[in-house]
Amino acid sequence: MTEPDGQRDAGHRGDPWWHGAVIYQIYPRSFADSNGDGVGDLPGIRRRLEHVASLGVDAIWLSPFYRSPMADFGYDVADHCDVDPVFGTLEDARGLIDDAHRLGLAVLVDFVPNHTSDQHPWFVASRSSRSNPMRHWYTWRDAGRGPNGVPNNWRAAFTGEAAWVRDDTGQLRPRWGLEATDQSTSAWTWDEATGQFYLHTFLPQQPDLDWRNPEVVAAQHDVLCFWLDAGVDGFRVDAIITIGKPEGLPDADPDLALIPEAGLTDEEFARSQVRDLRALVDAYRPDRILLGEVGGIDASAIRRYVAHDGFHLAFDFPPMFDRWRADRWRRHIDEAEAAHVDGEWPTWVLSNHDTPRHADRFGSEARARAAAVLLVGLRGCVVLYAGEELGLVDAEIAPDDRLDPGGRDGCRAPLPWTDAADHGWPPQAWLPFPANAETRNVERLEADPSSILHLYRRLLAARRSSPALRSGSFTWLADQPEGVLAWLRTVDPGSADPEPSSRDADRLVTVNFTESPAVVTTPSGNWVLVASGDGDGSEVDQPWDGRLGPDGAVIAQRR
Ligand code: NOJ
Repeated sequence: MTEPDGQRDAGHRGDPWWHGAVIYQIYPRSFADSNGDGVGDLPGIRRRLEHVASLGVDAIWLSPFYRSPMADFGYDVADHCDVDPVFGTLEDARGLIDDAHRLGLAVLVDFVPNHTSDQHPWFVASRSSRSNPMRHWYTWRDAGRGPNGVPNNWRAAFTGEAAWVRDDTGQLRPRWGLEATDQSTSAWTWDEATGQFYLHTFLPQQPDLDWRNPEVVAAQHDVLCFWLDAGVDGFRVDAIITIGKPEGLPDADPDLALIPEAGLTDEEFARSQVRDLRALVDAYRPDRILLGEVGGIDASAIRRYVAHDGFHLAFDFPPMFDRWRADRWRRHIDEAEAAHVDGEWPTWVLSNHDTPRHADRFGSEARARAAAVLLVGLRGCVVLYAGEELGLVDAEIAPDDRLDPGGRDGCRAPLPWTDAADHGWPPQAWLPFPANAETRNVERLEADPSSILHLYRRLLAARRSSPALRSGSFTWLADQPEGVLAWLRTVDPGSADPEPSSRDADRLVTVNFTESPAVVTTPSGNWVLVASGDGDGSEVDQPWDGRLGPDGAVIAQRR
């Protein structure tokens, strides 16, 4: 196995590799299949890793590939320290980590602290009798007096309905689970054999561990050590807020009682556990990182999980649930900039395996291209979801064909590699292809320099080669036309700037959120294009006079 090197592609001034990094999420079932069973696997990822490296990203994040009955497609872990046969073997995982390191990619794996599968030996033991020593690894309660005797009014996530619906205008909107009211969505399931309810913030097949039990904490810390020993560079930490249940498990506020508990908890207890995870990772070796999934709360709340030796990074999710509008993005960026101070980094993300792809949500590829410029031009880290570099939209899945209890199949469609009808997959892939796979597949887009794939490469190359873009400060450029945002990224004065003067090193980023042309007010100087959202590469280094086309977006620098 290759030795992970803490100095991998150190950023500006030898900063840690993850400052301003771009991380690429791979959902293993959907990336690439090596053995013809129609489900993506680890050897499949190894075969396609050159594609990932060619984009110019810094790291990959692998969604769970551990042993699992797949009730939640791997987020129901039955053995944290083994690979599910559908994905391969531990040897394949080790080989993948080595390959990635050889290609200069750091590797993050998913860590699921809050729950296990109901098939995990820990839960099998816990449920076997009230007196089992592992009984209190999970949360068991006697029947109460409420409806159906459930101990409190908490709701579980995933109602079996799609979490996003199209409104009257055809736009996708989050549903937030407000429609379901029946007790089948309770966060408690009755166990007939031992005569108690157990708690599950997600599916009944995902019982919640009790993190107030030190044995649970120690066992989960051992899981981190296992993967650190295997050479990973860090973890994406799943659903962290849910480990912080309020003492006594009180009822949720009746006004919020229809919202799953997974979106409501925000307790200091969870943050204290995050600090312990951070201490463990820091003590292991420098430059191992934790990227937290802190769901459902605003940027300042997310920051509480980062500040004071919490996570290195945490997703800023609110923009992912919002519309493609300048005023909304202005607010999100302001909030993130105000929240992440003292050397902290916002983490920007537009798509993932839980959310309809943004090319779908924003309604056009032109906007997806502008969104790529926006992401790469912001201060902070960026997480890309495999396939967004192809401009993929979701697969269309009829309600009867849904596999996922949360209705999230559409964004998990297999990645189309080739132009052929099977797109590089066996005849029966586990899900249908994205609706635009015929024209948005890797083979076809490789051959077209004007494609969104080459745009991502140009943008990521621009970010890697510019300290201002990668880690410089952020300043709005005022007085822009309605619907247009513009900002400067600037290398700190006084830093050991490798470029001629910090003024020349500035990068101007601008995005037109409207469908009309616009003219940006630029600071003085002659500006040339670094990349343009609608370009084919021939625009690079051409003079730029501040004009933006409809849905236009550019990065520019002074000549
Ligand atoms: C968040 C993950 O992203 C999602 O896919 C999963 O279903 C839940 N956490 C539960 O683990």
